[in-house]
Amino acid sequence: MSAGQMRAAWFTETGPPDVIRSGLLPVPVPGSRQALVRVEAAACNPIDTYIRAGTVRLPLPRPYIPGCDLAGTVVAVGADCELQIGDRVWGSNQGLSGRQGTFSEFCAVDQQWLYPLPESVSAKHAAAGALVGITAHLGLFLHAGLQPGETVFVNGGSGGVGSAVVQLAKAAGAQVITTAGSPEKAELCRLSGADHVILYRDEDIDQRLPEIVGRTGLIHLWFETLRMPSLDRCIPQMAMRGRIIFMAGRDSRPEFPVGPFYVRDLRAIGFAMFNASADEQRQSALELNNMLADGRYRPAVGAEFGIAAAAQAHLLQEQKTIRNESSIHGKILILPGMT
Ligand SMILES: NC(=O)c1ccc[n+]([C@@H]2O[C@H](COP(=O)([O-])OP(=O)(O)OC[C@H]3O[C@@H](n4cnc5c(N)ncnc54)[C@H](OP(=O)(O)O)[C@@H]3O)[C@@H](O)[C@H]2O)c1
Repeated sequence: MSAGQMRAAWFTETGPPDVIRSGLLPVPVPGSRQALVRVEAAACNPIDTYIRAGTVRLPLPRPYIPGCDLAGTVVAVGADCELQIGDRVWGSNQGLSGRQGTFSEFCAVDQQWLYPLPESVSAKHAAAGALVGITAHLGLFLHAGLQPGETVFVNGGSGGVGSAVVQLAKAAGAQVITTAGSPEKAELCRLSGADHVILYRDEDIDQRLPEIVGRTGLIHLWFETLRMPSLDRCIPQMAMRGRIIFMAGRDSRPEFPVGPFYVRDLRAIGFAMFNASADEQRQSALELNNMLADGRYRPAVGAEFGIAAAAQAHLLQEQKTIRNESSIHGKILILPGMT
């Protein structure tokens, strides 16, 4: 590898995971308000796979480096960048709006998307918790105004977003009910703070949920992380003026029981984390930093790949999120230092 080059994963045409190649690309030069970050860990998210598959169509540079999340060390800065060489940072929001992504040894990132990495937190855990943590925080607090003592139901509490929602809701003083796909994942949900876990593969959720709600009281905030929600299941369990968050399933067209919804004064909230401003995301990130530092937010790592195996990482993410075929718990990481 000659000076000025870096190892990266990239593709030039959208398609299945094996369109992703790896090899050498030029190290980017940071713009005036950018920092050049040596990437120690990047995380894979479902959106990366939608962009690569072409189901979410965005303007992409060619070649395009996938990946939104990163953590690492600043090694160079632009003239107007306030970060310092040597700063440890994490962030998300790369690989979008024409920006290159993070599955590379170096990434030039606008300073507005970078946050300080607490000393006690590893790059792996910061990257693992980046997009999913900001999403959970924005949903719970900016959009749904969670209050202490409320009851939250998280559908998909063992997933990337769901496990962050469980931890953040519990830390905010909520009572948390969730679902998991196996007894092992249910135990991890309990360790994350869930008060009640329904085994969605083994138990009848339409029987178990009303039983639990009979003891906890009705649900104030339903955080739906699945792409195909059942509103006939959800609405009867909701408290008056409860809030229902939808944040997955671009193609989803579920039936909407209007009558039961309005007679309870319910609110439906939709959001995408990428629509939040840099300031809104920074506020979430800084609060996540406090929780990462004191252990209230502990993002799990499920699998690690080197840059050359980025296509395998995408395949595994699709098996997990789209086909629901994977038993892994925790985020899928790309580690540029791993061969
Ligand atoms: N709007 C936004 O800003 C935003 C941000 C991030 C993600 N998303 C979207 O949110 C969704 C979740 O993302 P993610 O990163 O959390 O995915 P993920 O890590 O793959 O988690 C999905 C989870 O869903 C659970 N699950 C599957 N089928 C279920 C069922 N029938 N009942 C209950 N749980 C079930 C699985 O649990 P088990 O493993 O226990 O079986 C899995 O852990 C994706 O569609 C993603 O595109 C949206």
